[in-house]
Amino acid sequence: MHGGGGTSSDHKEKFAFMKQQPPILITGGAGFIGSNFVLEWFDSGRSAGSEARSNPLVNVDKLTYAGNPRNLERLSGRPDYRFVHADICDRPRMERLLQEERPRAILHFAAESHVDRSIMGPDAFVETNVRGTFVLLDAARAYWASLGDEERKSFRFIHVSTDEVYGSLGPDDPAFTETTAYAPNSPYSATKAGSDHLVRSYFHTYGLPTIITNCSNNYGPLQFPEKLIPLMITHAVAGKPLPIYGDGLNVRDWLYVTDHCEALRMVLERGRPGETYNIGGRNERSNREVVEAICEILDELRPGSSYRPHRQLMQFVKDRPGHDRRYAINAAKLEQEIGWRARETFATGLRKTVQWYLDHAGWVEDVVTGGYQQWIQQNYGERSRA
Ligand code: NAD
Ligand code: DAU
Repeated sequence: MHGGGGTSSDHKEKFAFMKQQPPILITGGAGFIGSNFVLEWFDSGRSAGSEARSNPLVNVDKLTYAGNPRNLERLSGRPDYRFVHADICDRPRMERLLQEERPRAILHFAAESHVDRSIMGPDAFVETNVRGTFVLLDAARAYWASLGDEERKSFRFIHVSTDEVYGSLGPDDPAFTETTAYAPNSPYSATKAGSDHLVRSYFHTYGLPTIITNCSNNYGPLQFPEKLIPLMITHAVAGKPLPIYGDGLNVRDWLYVTDHCEALRMVLERGRPGETYNIGGRNERSNREVVEAICEILDELRPGSSYRPHRQLMQFVKDRPGHDRRYAINAAKLEQEIGWRARETFATGLRKTVQWYLDHAGWVEDVVTGGYQQWIQQNYGERSRA
């Protein structure tokens, strides 16, 4: 259901929607983390019976290559869910939308998110991550200023950001905290850092109640197979080479996506305006370890595969330019102040993820179409073995 339609059933739906509590509005909800967030918003509302979580939800997404409406198919027809097909850079549209929907909070996920794509073509990253965040913030400021005292006090703008803004760690450096200096190294992380600074400035200058979250690498169902874990699973299943950049010893701190979503829901309810919260599950792994673990799980789940042992498909290829060596998140502030803790271990989360991709071959087939194949050719075609 795309927004902006004018049929009578749309009007009925909209009427039912408007009669409920004020919605939360999220951007980028057709992407990986956003769609997991939306699905869980309704699932957790049902199971926990929490009033806060039963708020209606408006999902604003431009549907770039990374946005997949199929992720949210099972919500179609719900009166408390609306999808709006729009670009966050479209200022009049954002202003109108906020006045129409009157959300109690905005959770801003929308971004260009893939580091390799930012190296090949940074323009879209500057446009969406910096300008888009600015447009949204400014529209939110005008909307927020128009609210009554109580609504203004409880309003929140949650900016979903990344640990990559802190740069790269040495092997023995302590994990990133909320006070680690920003040192972004890729066009992606530089644009996310820029957006974080804008968000911070809107709190300090205008008093807009913003909160920034900086999370480590997510994995789980519905992740577009350009990122390490789904790319390795889908390639291994198809007997294609598993391209590991450089020596494979770069380290990432992996968090199962539902743990991230739960942290965001808790920050929305309990986080303090003006604050930053780091989110991570204390799960540091080298890329090589991650790929080996995926291969072992597949060996077990696919005993009849002619590609067993799947690790024979591993190939070390030319490194990513400017490749950050290590990320690690210290989430103590979130744990102590908000009471969040990651539930999933890497072993259980990775197994669930591999199983999800095996069970959803149709979803994978749908997304690995022309544009995806072009990307694979562009990014990997010139990368000979290291
Ligand atoms: P994704 O690339 O899977 O999804 C991004 C979504 O944003 C897509 O649905 C896309 O259509 C939408 N979008 C892009 N440009 C838009 C625009 N101009 N207007 C409206 N919608 C637009 O990204 P993801 O991995 O789900 O990441 C979501 C957010 O979380 C991003 O802000 C990212 O920086 C941050 N983050 C991601 C990770 C991770 O490991 N994936 C970790 C930490 C933080
Ligand atoms: O740290 C949080 C960030 O994690 C998010 O902000 C980004 O949106 C998200 O894309 C992710 O960035 P990374 O660059 O860490 O993720 P990616 O999956 O692209 O790569 C993970 C590691 O695996 C990295 O060290 C590069 C390596 N890699 C990646 C690909 C795609 C390979 O070795 N081979 C590959 O083919």
